[in-house]
Amino acid sequence: MINQDNKIYNFAPGPAMLPDSVKQQIIDDMPDWRGTGSSVMEVSHRGPVFRNLVKETELLVREILDISDEYDILMTPGGARLQYSMMPMSFSSLTGKTMYFVHGHWGKSAILEAQKFCNARPLVPYKQGEIYTAIPEYDMSQLDDSFDYFHYTTNETLEGVEWQDIPENNGVPMFCDMTSNLMTRPIDVSKYHLIYASAQKNLGIAGITIVIIKKSMLDIAPNNLPLMLDYRTYAKHDSLWNTPPTFPWYVMNLMLNWIKSTGGLSAIESRNTQKSAKLYDFIDNSNFYSNNVKVDNRSKVNVTFLLADENLNETFVQQADAVGIKAIKGHRAVGGMRASLYNAMPIAGVNALIEFMQQFEKDHG
Ligand SMILES: Cc1ncc(COP(=O)(O)O)c(C=O)c1O
Repeated sequence: MINQDNKIYNFAPGPAMLPDSVKQQIIDDMPDWRGTGSSVMEVSHRGPVFRNLVKETELLVREILDISDEYDILMTPGGARLQYSMMPMSFSSLTGKTMYFVHGHWGKSAILEAQKFCNARPLVPYKQGEIYTAIPEYDMSQLDDSFDYFHYTTNETLEGVEWQDIPENNGVPMFCDMTSNLMTRPIDVSKYHLIYASAQKNLGIAGITIVIIKKSMLDIAPNNLPLMLDYRTYAKHDSLWNTPPTFPWYVMNLMLNWIKSTGGLSAIESRNTQKSAKLYDFIDNSNFYSNNVKVDNRSKVNVTFLLADENLNETFVQQADAVGIKAIKGHRAVGGMRASLYNAMPIAGVNALIEFMQQFEKDHG
């Protein structure tokens, strides 16, 4: 027996675990998807069956996030990182100014890319090697309409530092990297001009990125962009201009149906709150484990923690792996451990992790 449930729990930060029912559906669909006689991987993206999936997926996103017709929903390749380039190329210029809020690894990556295309400034100065344990104090009065847009990251996946509210944007179009927490709780889309998230954490598998963009933004972009880097190409052609990542699109559709059938985002949020609260509570009550993220900024989806004795890190990871607790090691830039508790992680996985941590403490504390 590996753990009490005899199950593997994958705490990877992405690609991440999928719900069992979604994996089973993929297996069931493989020989004959929706009566096509083929798998979804073998049918034309322009045929009626795949086009139905495209329409259905868009409607599910609109319904789950309550998105109005003022927005287009696009599916792009290239991960979240491609968005780091597309945003400044489309919505600023070499003579333009943009404001970035940096509170971790991904925010830094985003601003560094933007600086190739425009004058991208950090709202709060940052240091390259800094490991964030809180959202830094900030003064939004610097943000005014001389900036083309304001960008931030809702959840810093490596550090486990998450915004719990929405920052003020002083009327400047607000863009947001929600790669690690889109669809983990309800959000007010109307506050944003652009939201993006690659799928491999809460929305299926790698290969596809969802972009929710205010239609009015599309008129602003310059006309000389390469077609595949122009949001309008995706908007005009239902994201089917080139041959898209059809399998990841199909898995996203299954994930959205799963989110809906398990109660939608309010239910998802209360499960995520319960899972993370249980783990933080355990860590806070231990002298062997610690989490040094400011309590109000703690992530509900990436719980980072340290062992009192760093020399035990390797043993911890190996023994966890042996009992079915997979991919628990923290990112090399941050160290320690990280438990990613995305939507598909059941509370039973958190219980199994805590049980293992208790036993490890008994053996090594
Ligand atoms: C918050 C955040 N932004 C961006 C990325 C990069 O995503 P991709 O690899 O899809 O480009 C990640 C990946 O972990 C992430 O967590």
